Amino acid sequence: MAKIILTGDRPTGRLHLGHYVGSLRRRVELQNSGEFDKIFIMIADAQALTDNWDNPEKVRQNIIEVALDYLSAGLDPEKSTLFIQSQIPELCELAFYYMNLVTIQRLQRNPTVKAEIVLRGFSETTAEDDASQKQGIPTGFFTYPISQAADITAFKATTVPAGEDQKPMIEQTREIVHKFNSVYSGSLVEPEILLPDNAACMRLPGTDGKAKMSKSLGNCIYLSDTAAEVKKKVMGMYTDPDHLRVEDPGKIEGNTVFTYLDAFCSDEQVERFTTDYHTLQEVKDHYQHGGLGDVKVKKLLIAVLNETLEPIRERRHYYEERIEEVFAVLEKGSEVARAAAAETLNEVRDAMRINYFADRELIREQAEKYKETLK
Ligand code: TRP
Repeated sequence: MAKIILTGDRPTGRLHLGHYVGSLRRRVELQNSGEFDKIFIMIADAQALTDNWDNPEKVRQNIIEVALDYLSAGLDPEKSTLFIQSQIPELCELAFYYMNLVTIQRLQRNPTVKAEIVLRGFSETTAEDDASQKQGIPTGFFTYPISQAADITAFKATTVPAGEDQKPMIEQTREIVHKFNSVYSGSLVEPEILLPDNAACMRLPGTDGKAKMSKSLGNCIYLSDTAAEVKKKVMGMYTDPDHLRVEDPGKIEGNTVFTYLDAFCSDEQVERFTTDYHTLQEVKDHYQHGGLGDVKVKKLLIAVLNETLEPIRERRHYYEERIEEVFAVLEKGSEVARAAAAETLNEVRDAMRINYFADRELIREQAEKYKETLK
């Protein structure tokens, strides 16, 4: 069976380091490994509209930002198909048929949707008894896991590189595939999620030490940040609040600077960017013993992050001067993606036996039935 990747992001802002270590870096590696037959990377604007339906301009403005971040991170349009979700109407038709295979109760149990209902203020029973929190849940938002199953299955994806928060979506997709195949004798493909392989990458905290980078918390380092911005953000980063004097022993767990080093820093970089250490473990040991100050560790992190981000910034600059070309890449990618989705949709309609006009058997059968009754 062909090995196919489908994954994507909602265009609601520029991509940050959490996106990078959570999935983007992996996609680029997989792309360049040549192991996959096809790679589809989607800008999920229709999904973004499910909780930004009142602000389509935000989504519209961020299409190019995400596209620029993709290209600058190293996604190559020669190897990966980059496209925009809303330009593939076949996805809506697939989602419409899949809706019959999912109960409201099952949707209500999806942990990511559950958490987002509270986060987005759609809940009617949030803890804070605030009237603005009681707007109810839009149906489009509530059913987005079904639309996501359409995204994944339309491309016959075997592999979805994504963060931990996407696990329940892939689980629901697998259930839909299973049900479709057993009810209609279909041949949809069950996808697998590909999670980051280390805990720091799985959930990169914000610079303030909060659980996640999030634009609304203002705790993000963006792929497009300048070297000076990165330096300033790292210098202000949350560390160990009890590590007051350099001599004091410091904690590594929950120390954001070390979490970032785990996600980004190789021993080879430690060797190059410090004079006294050969491995990251040695840096950690010294910090835990006492005698290593936060500023020294932060300087290492700044060097490492800027080394990672410099080629990304350079590529961004290149593409920022070629915006029309970037849109042309997306247009071409959307055509290729649409053809692939149309093929799957046709197979789905065949399995459901609703391709009536191509169904000679149905037409002959009905004609014969009526010939009998008219005799
Ligand atoms: N839900 C993803 C996000 O929040 C975006 C997305 C839409 C996606 N469809 C997808 C991811 C299909 C992987 C596969 O960023």
